[in-house]
Amino acid sequence: MIVLGIETSCDETAAAVVLRAPEGQGRILSSVVLSQDAHAIYGGVVPELAARAHVDRLDDVIATALDEAGLDLAGVDAIAATAGPGLIGGVLVGLTTAKALAMATGKPLVAVNHLEAHALTARLTDGIAFPYLLLLVSGGHTQIVRVDGVGRYRRLGTTIDDALGEAFDKTAKLLDLGYPGGPAVEAAAAKGDPGRIPLPRPMIGRPTPDFSFSGLKTAIRQEAERRAPLSPADVADLCAAFQSSICAVIADRVRLALGLFRDSAPGIDPVLVVAGGVAANRAIAARLAETTAKAGARLVVPPPVLCTDNGAMVAWAGAERLALGLSDDLDVAARARWPLDAEAEPLVGYGRLGTKV
Ligand code: KG4
Ligand code: ZN
Repeated sequence: MIVLGIETSCDETAAAVVLRAPEGQGRILSSVVLSQDAHAIYGGVVPELAARAHVDRLDDVIATALDEAGLDLAGVDAIAATAGPGLIGGVLVGLTTAKALAMATGKPLVAVNHLEAHALTARLTDGIAFPYLLLLVSGGHTQIVRVDGVGRYRRLGTTIDDALGEAFDKTAKLLDLGYPGGPAVEAAAAKGDPGRIPLPRPMIGRPTPDFSFSGLKTAIRQEAERRAPLSPADVADLCAAFQSSICAVIADRVRLALGLFRDSAPGIDPVLVVAGGVAANRAIAARLAETTAKAGARLVVPPPVLCTDNGAMVAWAGAERLALGLSDDLDVAARARWPLDAEAEPLVGYGRLGTKV
């Protein structure tokens, strides 16, 4: 089965062609990701600019993906597109394009949940079996989820305020390190002393594997204001302290989640899959390797290009759904919000803006 996948839910315009063999192995035939650069001067993604850039570039990106796979539309069995959650203008561009292609070719359409696409990527790259534990850490999401099957998710923990990538981006903005902030903070942290400036380690020890990063953000701002003007060493030490706090928090939360996973799936050796842009952070990856090794669990981190937003994960999620006989009508709606686990209680009341799902 050969699926064209389209991703436009944030600031990457992406398309890919993925093959799924009858026994379930996957192969990426092409993957084109165009990161939009129009947002950097604003220090964050501007939804209207993103949607417009998707309109301008998506047709070319799809044509290139087909070309690189050595196919035309006739060689594709189905069209999959992210239908949410995400910035609704962008989602509409990708989904509407997919609908038009499906209608014109008579091929099935699959409306993919972007989070499900992240969640299933490790089955494409490493062929892992259900159930497994997923740590999803991106600019918009921070969740620990038990993945029981396609369409079957149990959220064990989430953030009650900022997403982890957002915390990296806000720290970078505060310290004038540019956008996106994750790689810049990681680079500065490598030169700093994590022990000089003490920062809080929020949520450590809490009985559910949830996260909170807004207090940490406030603490950094206060430390930065107290030391202004900041020397390069101050910036490096603040980044190092921030990253070290994040690593400690993640280790604690993941340790707890692995215990919950073992309790809920006795006899199954836990596998932790990490997805989302923050998975590219080497300090976090190293700490996760240590935590999973101590807990007797296997760690699977797909390559960075498949951890950040891309079309291959969408095509693959589409292929997994099609293999189960699942596809969508042409009137399927785009969704700004679309939790993986519809039954998870929102953690409203914690953060100022409520929960993020
Ligand atoms: O998954 P992603 O590409 O987009 C979505 O948010 O869906 O994730 C982007 C996020 C940004 O917040 C970026 O700062 C963060 O991932 N990120 C990192 C690193 N590389 C990217 N955070 C920490 N360390 C990194 N090396
Ligand atoms: Zn994403």
